[in-house]
Parts: sequence; structure tokens; C-alpha cells
Amino acid sequence: MSVHYDPKERIFHLRGKDTSYVIQIIRDGYLAHLYWGKRLNHFYSKNPIRFVKRGFSPNPEPSDQSFSLDTLPQEYPAYGNTDFRTPAYQIQLENGSTITDLRYKNHSIFKGKPKLSGLPSVYVEEEQEAETLEIILEDSLIHLQVKLTYTIFSEYNAITRSVHFQNQGEEKLKILRALSANVDFRDDQFDLLTLYGSHINERNIVRRPIVPGSQLIESRRGASSHQQNPFFALLRKNTDEEKGEVYGFSLVYSGNFLAQVEVDQFHTARASIGINPFDFTWLLKQNESFQLPEVVMVYSDEGLGGMSRTYHELYRTRLCRGTYRDLIRPTLINNWEATYMKFTAEKIIEIAKAAQEVGIELFVLDDGWFGKRDNAKSSLGDWVVNKQKLPKGLADLAKRIRKMGLEFGLWFEPEMVSVDSDLYRKHPDWCLHVPNRRRSEGRNQLVLDLSRTEVCDYIIAAVSNVLQSAPITYVKWDMNRHLTEIGSETLSAEQQRETAHRYILGLYRIMDEITSRFPDILFESCSGGGGRFDPGMLYYMPQVWTSDNTDAVSRLKIQYGTSIVYPLVTMGAHVSAVPNHQVKRVTSLDMRGNVAMSGNFGYELDLTKLTKKEKEEIKSQITFYKDIRHIVQFGKFYRLLNPFIGNQAAWLFISEDKTEVVVLYSQILSQPNPPLCSLRLKGLNPNFLYRDTKTGEVYGGDELMYAGIAIPQLKSDFNSVIWSFRRIK
Ligand code: DGJ
Repeated sequence: MSVHYDPKERIFHLRGKDTSYVIQIIRDGYLAHLYWGKRLNHFYSKNPIRFVKRGFSPNPEPSDQSFSLDTLPQEYPAYGNTDFRTPAYQIQLENGSTITDLRYKNHSIFKGKPKLSGLPSVYVEEEQEAETLEIILEDSLIHLQVKLTYTIFSEYNAITRSVHFQNQGEEKLKILRALSANVDFRDDQFDLLTLYGSHINERNIVRRPIVPGSQLIESRRGASSHQQNPFFALLRKNTDEEKGEVYGFSLVYSGNFLAQVEVDQFHTARASIGINPFDFTWLLKQNESFQLPEVVMVYSDEGLGGMSRTYHELYRTRLCRGTYRDLIRPTLINNWEATYMKFTAEKIIEIAKAAQEVGIELFVLDDGWFGKRDNAKSSLGDWVVNKQKLPKGLADLAKRIRKMGLEFGLWFEPEMVSVDSDLYRKHPDWCLHVPNRRRSEGRNQLVLDLSRTEVCDYIIAAVSNVLQSAPITYVKWDMNRHLTEIGSETLSAEQQRETAHRYILGLYRIMDEITSRFPDILFESCSGGGGRFDPGMLYYMPQVWTSDNTDAVSRLKIQYGTSIVYPLVTMGAHVSAVPNHQVKRVTSLDMRGNVAMSGNFGYELDLTKLTKKEKEEIKSQITFYKDIRHIVQFGKFYRLLNPFIGNQAAWLFISEDKTEVVVLYSQILSQPNPPLCSLRLKGLNPNFLYRDTKTGEVYGGDELMYAGIAIPQLKSDFNSVIWSFRRIK
């Protein structure tokens, strides 16, 4: 790994593990993009950018009609001075104009990776893990400095990028658009892959060819959203799960984002991602600076699977933080689908007792324990225990549960306020709102204005008080609506469009403070399930409730789609009752267990209502999961069969040393006279011998990968099998 600068050619060559990224300073300081792809030993610059005269592509230097920014592959392009493609940024000056001209000023190269102030980012533990290039660009007329930061890693085929604006001039600038990264590919022979969805139907995979014009995904919801994930990948046409080139872009941000690919008239492709410029501006006064979120760009020539494994390892070990990063995650029981908000202390104790009997390790008390909350209409913001439901308080309940040998966890939704709450009665101005307009409710609630310091301080104090008051070792941090009437009473008129980003900065400060105050608590984020499953949240909270949809068949797609970017250890997955509460489907306990075991395993049903036989089955599921969870949570992940294109799903987990393997196969609908197929495994050591831990049969690693294992005939809908193999030799 190295960043090399050739002063003669003015070329920066960033070499990561197996990837190279090459930038050149050309002419009077334009920053051109030369290459991103498989690692090159040297870039001799024998493949330079070709300049040819093109009609309707104007020329910044009248003496040279072959040079236009419109045809130049660039690192951080502007609009308005000869490039007509979508710009990476746009700044408004005091005179109303929006033309800027950034040119190379200087650069520095150093070991390690700097932190981003106030924003989440990938980190290193040792300086030797990464090398960073910072390039300063300057607009000399207005003294605006823009720092482009690139980091490459010794162990990952990833490059992180971020951008920092600093106003060193005297005039007040307004940022109208500021994306975090722009990559100009020299051709357009790609498919675009994105992850879309809705509540209870998150992260469906869509792959489509890119075509002339712009194709984009975005969120305008104030959260990264269920609807589109802040991620996209460009795949070469022949790329599949195992082979071919992929370029992944993942934004470490939890708010409004834009990801865009523009194919221009000459069939080049401009890819960019960052904060959504829609309804956004940022005032930058003299000496002020503005930091943009980080983008993690991954290159793989081992197909989509190779890209996913890079993201998994990088995010699991160098984005997630804290005590639990490397710790085995506990099996849990959550009372939400068991009781919803209708419970008593005794009912909770009964469920906890049943959980303890089957070997569950953590009890999570969900919504309804505070204020006077019996339904979704009240009490958000009033984080004091509901004495009617829990007369002896939280501490008493937590202690009783801990006495049984279970840990105790608690649900919060700190970013929200109910109109019917003491908090709202006291501070009606503390929610997001605009003057003289309706305050639209979602799930009967309003959103607190996290752009305000005092509101954030209140949340930090209120949540901390509860966490100090009882032996709590787990927190579920929920967020159940998106932002409307986005405005803040404390911001000036010209700063109103900063509110949504300031909300996210406030949220990051709150989470940073609370997770640092309580380092031994395991935090799981949630937004009506997977509405904020993004790298920004993972930096503070190492796991996420993947979806409010707990149906095992729906979960095949949801978990498969989520695995495109996110490590399996970050996904909460629970067994719930049938008929399933979201889709009314009836699946076997076996399948529900098998599918949920592919993540952080838990249950979300009333264990006291189960038969003895069902409890026995659950007990053995938990024993089995405890035996395999180190592989599921910390192993490598390979996708085998795609539920988006067939009637089956399959994937496997393998330990780092390749000695332990867990395979899941699921059939959705049963077929008449089905073919008798084999499932070919991936990632094993071909020279190892593996024993099936259930049947005792022995297979060669090569045999399992190239000949495969026989898929049993499953004679019913919604069926699944789990195999576990251990190396014997
Ligand atoms: C939405 C979450 O996703 C559910 O799991 C549950 O916690 C409810 N909110 C509680 O209101």
C-alpha cells in the first residue's frame, strides 16, 4: 500500500491491497481522474487523457479548442465554466453568481487516517494500516479552499473519500451543493445496482443497465430510509456473484442523500454521491468550514461477492466500534410481538422465565414502559417509568430478570415527541416546524429539533438518567417516522435549509455522548426496522433491527439484499409467531429458526403460549446457534442462490481459518416433480476434509465446492435445511 507522487508527471498513484487509483494535475491545476481499478505496478502515463475538439464543448483557454472541462474526467467538477455535466458542488457568492474555479494548490501524504470532525467514518487502529492523501484546491478569487481526502488501506480494496470546505475569504458564501465524491469513468459499459424498498420490505436488489442521461436514487425523508439505501454499485456487464469487476459506493451518512450516475454524450459515466442538495444549503461565513460525510469506495474483480466481503470486513472491524465489536452477541427475547404495549410486570417476568428455561441470554423490554403509554398516541419524550404497568419500577424488574441469569435491555425512541406528553406541553417549540404551518404527525408523533443544542442535551440527560437507574446492558434505539415541515425556530431565514443536516449532526453528537458514557451497553439501532440501516448508524451502534417484517420467507430477500453491503453480525433476526403478524404467512418453527440464525438471533413471541414440544425445539435451536454463532457473526459470508431470481435462497458462513462452515438452504414454494439438484459451496479449502456435524458424513472441500451437496427433496412450501461442517483433517 502506498501513495506515490510523481512530480514530473504530476501524478498521484494510490495503491491499495489489489486496487489502484490515479489522479493527475493537468494544465493550470485542474484535477483529472486517470484510473480506478485493479492494482497497477506503475502508471507510466502512456494512457493519457486524449483531448479532441468537440462541438458545443466550450474552451476555458481560447488558444486550445481541444480542451474543455466538458470532456475532462475530473475528481471534483464544477458547473458553469465549460462542464455541462452534473457538478460535484456549487457555491453561491454574495453577488448571486455561482461560478467557482478550484485549482490545485498543494498536497500532503501521510500514514494513517484522520478522523472527521462530528461525523462517523472508517478508522484505523495502527498508522500502518492506511495511507492518506490530502489535496488542497483553491479558488483564488474568493479564497475558498477545498480539501479532498483519500485514504487507501493495506488490507482492503477500499478507498475512502471526503471533502472539507473552508472559507478563507471575506465574503459570505452559500454552499448549494456539495457531494462527497465524484468518479468519472471513461466509458459507460456498466450496470447499476441499488437497494430499494419500503417499510417491512427493505433492501430489494435492482440491477439495470445505465443509459444516456442521469439515473439517480435519493432520500428526501430526513433519514437514509427504507426506500433507498445510501449505496450503489457499478458492475461490468459480465459481472456476477463470483467474477467480474464491481465498483461500490457507500455513504457513511444517515440523512438525506443523493447517488447519481450520468452517462454523457460521449458515453462516459460520471458517478457521484453525497448529501442530497435538494432542500439543502449551508452558509459559510469568513473562516468557517464545512465537513462532508465520507464515502467508502470498494473495488472488486471477484464479483459482487468479493465487494460484499470487503465491505463486511471493513465495516465489522473498522467502522463498528466499542466493547461489543468483537464480542459474541447474545441471543435475545423481545416482548414487542408478544405483548405489544399491553403488559404487566408479571407478564414480563413470565416471558423472561420461559426464555431462561430455553437458554436465551437477554430480555428486551420494548415500547410501552414509560409515561402513560398504552398506545402510540402518547408519552414519547417522557422517559420516566410507567408506574401503572411497572409499579415497582424499572430497576426492580431489571434486577428480577437479571437474577434469573438474563441480561436486561430497554427500548427508547429518543428523537421523537408525542403531542400528548409533558415534554411537548412544556416545550412546544422543541419539535421541527415552520411558522404558521400545520405540524404533520406520523404515527401520532412529531420529530424533535435535533439541530438545537438544548434539545440534544435534554435527550442525553433523559436517556442517561434511565440507563443509570437500572442494570441495563442493551438498548434498542428506535425512530418511527420521517421528517416533515423541516425548519428550526433557532436558525436564521437563510439557514433554514441547514436544518435536516444539522438534525443528523445533533443525532451523531447524542449517540456519541451516550455510547461513550455507557461503553458496556450493547446498542441496536432501529427505524421501524431497517429504515436507517446505514454505515453512519453502525459507527455508533454495532447492530440494527433489520426489518419489522419477521416472516421467514420475506426475510430471505431482506437479509440477502442487506448482505450486499452490511455484515451479518449487524443484522437483528428474530423468530416470531405464526400466522406472521406482517404478512399472515404460516411457516414452520424450523424454517423460522434457520433463517433467523443467519444474524443476531432472537425470539419475538410469547414463549409462555408455546407447547412443550415447541419449547423443546426452541431449546435445541438455541443450543445449535450458540455452537455456530461465532461463524455466523465473525466468519466470511458467501451468497449461493439468489431469492430475487428464483424459488430458492442459499448462503454460507465460513470461519476465517476455513475449518468451520455453516450452510443455509431454503425453498420457497414446493414444486411438482422437482429436479434433484446439488448445492455447490464456495470459499472452502479444497484440500481440507470436512465432516457434516449432524450426519457424520465426510466430504472433501473440493467435493463440496465443485460437486456440491445433494439438496434434499423438501415436500412442502417454506422449507429449509442447515448444514454445519467441521474440518477433520
Ligand atoms: C418499531 C420497531 O421496529 C418495532 O420493533 C418496535 O420496537 C416498535 N417500533 C415499537 O413501537
